[in-house]
Amino acid sequence: MISKITIDKVYETARLEEVIGDFVQLKKSGTNFKGLSPFTDERSPSFMVSPVKQIWKDFSSGKGGNVVAFLMEHEHFTYPEAIKYLAKKYNIEVEETEQSNEQKEQASERESMYLVSEFAQTHFKEMLWESELGKAIGLSYFKERGFTDETIKKFELGYCLDQWDGFTTAALDKGYRLEYLAKTGLTIVKEDSNNPNGARKFDRFKGRVMFPIHSLSGRVLGFGGRILKNDKKAAKYLNSPESDIYHKSKVLYGIYHAKQSIAKEDNCYLVEGYTDVIQFAQRGIDNVVSSSGTALTPEQIRLINRLTKNITVLFDGDAAGLRASLRGIDLILEQGMNVRVCTFPEGEDPDSFAKNNELEDVMMYLNDNSKDFIQFKASLLVKEANNDPIKRADTVRDIVNSISKIPDRIQKEVYIQECAQIMNISEAVLFNTLAQIGKKEDKNVQAQQKEEQKAFDVVRNTPEEKEEKVDVQYLLERKIIESLMLYGNYKEEFEDLVLKENSAGDLVLEPEISEIKVYEKIYLDLQEDEIELANEEFRKMYTRLIEALNEKEDFSITSFVNGLDQEMANQISSILMEEERYTLHDWERKEIFPKSKEIGVAQLVSETILTLRCFLIKKRMSTLQHATEDSTKDNREVLEEIMNYIQLNKLLNKKLNRVLS
Ligand code: CTP
Ligand code: MN
Repeated sequence: MISKITIDKVYETARLEEVIGDFVQLKKSGTNFKGLSPFTDERSPSFMVSPVKQIWKDFSSGKGGNVVAFLMEHEHFTYPEAIKYLAKKYNIEVEETEQSNEQKEQASERESMYLVSEFAQTHFKEMLWESELGKAIGLSYFKERGFTDETIKKFELGYCLDQWDGFTTAALDKGYRLEYLAKTGLTIVKEDSNNPNGARKFDRFKGRVMFPIHSLSGRVLGFGGRILKNDKKAAKYLNSPESDIYHKSKVLYGIYHAKQSIAKEDNCYLVEGYTDVIQFAQRGIDNVVSSSGTALTPEQIRLINRLTKNITVLFDGDAAGLRASLRGIDLILEQGMNVRVCTFPEGEDPDSFAKNNELEDVMMYLNDNSKDFIQFKASLLVKEANNDPIKRADTVRDIVNSISKIPDRIQKEVYIQECAQIMNISEAVLFNTLAQIGKKEDKNVQAQQKEEQKAFDVVRNTPEEKEEKVDVQYLLERKIIESLMLYGNYKEEFEDLVLKENSAGDLVLEPEISEIKVYEKIYLDLQEDEIELANEEFRKMYTRLIEALNEKEDFSITSFVNGLDQEMANQISSILMEEERYTLHDWERKEIFPKSKEIGVAQLVSETILTLRCFLIKKRMSTLQHATEDSTKDNREVLEEIMNYIQLNKLLNKKLNRVLS
């Protein structure tokens, strides 16, 4: 268990915008920050972060909450994981009560797999730096490749001794369970038919130098291990198998070290191998990641898309399998990103090129040789067969096909113009081809648009968005919750109309001013009419808020939200972010409410309460009126009640008019 003191300190110190900024490229927007939703594939930003309120809201997925909620949603951390992550980021010492064996066992399976992987990373590092064989074989190999100590440490490279089960034994000795060693693939377990008592255990990475693969947030998910001997039979690189914590298609090697630089440079270099990433970083180019030998996937691109719109794909000089890699370009275009391509001279790859050239020269090379995808595809043709008309036609079709993937219409058109120029073909023909491709894909697009519409519906479906029927009561109750949160603790002057006897002895309504706290005003007024909020969630929040405000002089939303369970914290964030949502989508706001910024808090609160009271009275009256329609019954009592309500309604309306004027 993490101590309460640590948790409090983490909350006090952590800045939401900084934490989220490590994962999402945020742009200032008024007092808030805006970015692309990290949870969906959207193209225009609907992800909002409020530094003032220290909450975030993703309007495309509906998710929201505080800093911990973000890490839990985004990194799939558990609560303690999120706290530990923040503590690490802000150099806060984690005070922890010792875990019992039982607690250790209870740690989730995934967590156990993470722990085993972390141990493996530490172990492989230790072997590399401290064991004689590790130093002689592993470390000297990395040095030979030109990696400095600093680089080897930064990427946490390691070595797995050339023994059958050296690592596995070490892990088991430390109390890690075979089950998780097997599930992460670090240990290969083979049933032995000759020996019913036991299975044989092997280190998967025996005799290999190790490249740990980190998640965006720096957790070890898996490994790549490179063989050192020249063994034609064994694979040069061996990777961790797919597991509950390691999904190859969703991981990019180097992303943890590169993310900040990618966002800052607003570009990401995409290379093929582990060593390309490391060598680039050592040379001073940090915004580089690798898909590590597998074909690029949409998920991997999305990972980059959160950080930048620009990808530069770097291809090895030998260009083997180049054609196959071209599909990756279309996938990038499909996500509305800009893609450039750069190839290296014959026989060179980014690794060797960065190793053999100074930073300045590498940068110059990249700048001079990066082409947009049309130039790149066209240049392939020039290499292959310039005068072959069939090849040329194929290339043109290929290019137009890529252009058809671009979601933005204007961009499409610009590229068509460029293609026409480069390939020396009329724009009209190209547009025609584009249209034909479009027709074919129209059906797919329609299906996709339907999906998008659905996603949008999630946002629109909250009652206030329904155009035909606005749920006034819901909105008013929501406004009450919002007022409690934002201004609950404010002391305000409230004007009320009370019945008084004037000098002539008549009863008149006279204004009376009292200075009380907003939450007291709300509580007392609602109680006066015995109003209970109809919405169950609001009712729960209301009770919690009144309690919290009553308890603490120094009520703060941040600590209040932090004390809530995830679901309620999420709902509260939605409410607090309401205003941002409207500015975000620029949707017309139903003119039911005063705009809190333009009028005083007291007025806002009074108006909300009075409107709610009037609304409820009208609702009640109409129910009663329905009851009177049954003429077979004695309606006198009901009628009397209605009369009372009419009086009350008049009074409330008077008050409301006063407030409004
Ligand atoms: N790869 C792999 N399995 C293999 C070969 C390659 O997973 N059997 C992946 C690795 O991530 C490797 C990348 O593909 O980094 C690129 O392969 P390659 O160009 O052959 O390797 P290099 O990075 O050039 O490796 P090295 O320089 O160490 O030979
Ligand atoms: Mn190489």
